[in-house]
Amino acid sequence: MERNKRVKREEKRELDLDSFLANGIEKMRASDVRDALKLVEGKKIISFAGGLPDPETFPHKEVKDIIRTLEHSDLSSSFQYGATLGVIELRKELSKLVSKRGIVNVDETNVLVSAGSQEAIYILCFLLLNPGDDIIVETPTYVAALNAMRLREPIFHGIPLREDGMDMKELEKTIKEVEAKGRRIKFIYTIPSSQNPGGITMSMQNRKRLLELAEEHNILIIEDDAYGFLAFDGNAPDAIKSLDKTGRVIYTSTFSKILAPGFRLGWVIASNEVISKMELMKQSVDLHSSTFTQRIALETLRRGVIERNMPRVRKLYKEKRDVMIKSIEEWFPKDVKYSIPDGGMFIFVWLKPEINARDLLKSAVERGVAFVPGSGFYHDDSGKNTMRLNFSKPSVEEIKKGIKILGLLIKEKTN
Ligand SMILES: Cc1ncc(COP(=O)(O)O)c(C=O)c1O
Repeated sequence: MERNKRVKREEKRELDLDSFLANGIEKMRASDVRDALKLVEGKKIISFAGGLPDPETFPHKEVKDIIRTLEHSDLSSSFQYGATLGVIELRKELSKLVSKRGIVNVDETNVLVSAGSQEAIYILCFLLLNPGDDIIVETPTYVAALNAMRLREPIFHGIPLREDGMDMKELEKTIKEVEAKGRRIKFIYTIPSSQNPGGITMSMQNRKRLLELAEEHNILIIEDDAYGFLAFDGNAPDAIKSLDKTGRVIYTSTFSKILAPGFRLGWVIASNEVISKMELMKQSVDLHSSTFTQRIALETLRRGVIERNMPRVRKLYKEKRDVMIKSIEEWFPKDVKYSIPDGGMFIFVWLKPEINARDLLKSAVERGVAFVPGSGFYHDDSGKNTMRLNFSKPSVEEIKKGIKILGLLIKEKTN
């Protein structure tokens, strides 16, 4: 009797989940970054995977002070549901903050606060894309944006990165080829400053050309400025959005790199029309972003915490970049190419074509070092011989040790 009951319960538990899933869900993939992080979980390993900020950059004391000194009424409203667009005072502050990126003539009506810039990208994909739409991305580009786009099943067109950003000749050629087929490009997704993973910054000349092409061919631009505030000399070229007179640039940025990713706060600057469509969609996604973290983020802006923190973050990351570049020069084979980023958190590496970075990762983890294979950052899964190295999270000592291990391993594999 008991046994029968148990058998029945076990039968009930067998469920074919795949048969319940919506069409297209199979396009969802785990990112290589997450997979690489899983490999290192619980192991004592030097990790160049992930894109974590150095916890040293988190303003612990200032945030504690803010929480301690918040007015009862502010605290109360931060525990309450809030407006979908975000806390109004924060939106006002953000419309001022972006003047540092050259974006002026915007006010709070042009701002939506999102749950990290990832949510903004996800919402934009759902707002703009039908399956089969043509879009342009950089090769390589940010993997989690690619994954959000993939869910909408677009046709990807990749434009290679050169030393001054997206190759403008290739871009023009691609746009014209698509148009010759009677089709159109819906949007161009670009990370123009300290690109993730390429570590490359688009020149002002190319920013102007990109906007010109978008205007000529009636294309939207999604400008992901996640690292725009993190140029090591404090001087990234102004955002493409700063040149936009017609409202075709949708700008996103984030608190994750200048305050703390755990706040899960990003923002969008766009025309009123775009903002109100995003607002409607966000209502169905999560009602609004956390009022609690928005209130604290607001105070960090008002009290100059972020203003003071940014130079510290830049200095620390520049030092770590320098150590990583020096170690690469010392230990990697001479035929390896790598970017020298002027901001952000990553160095991108091109190994000899015969080396597969996914295979290399397994051996590297056995020796105590992890990185992210680069192919996940390519819309077509090419770039098998590339890898992304994060320098913001590991310590200087770990960078020196880990790069030596990696360099020796690459040499073994190439000999
Ligand atoms: C280029 C780029 N865009 C967007 C994001 C998303 O960041 P968040 O959702 O934390 O704002 C990241 C995170 O690493 C990134 O590198």
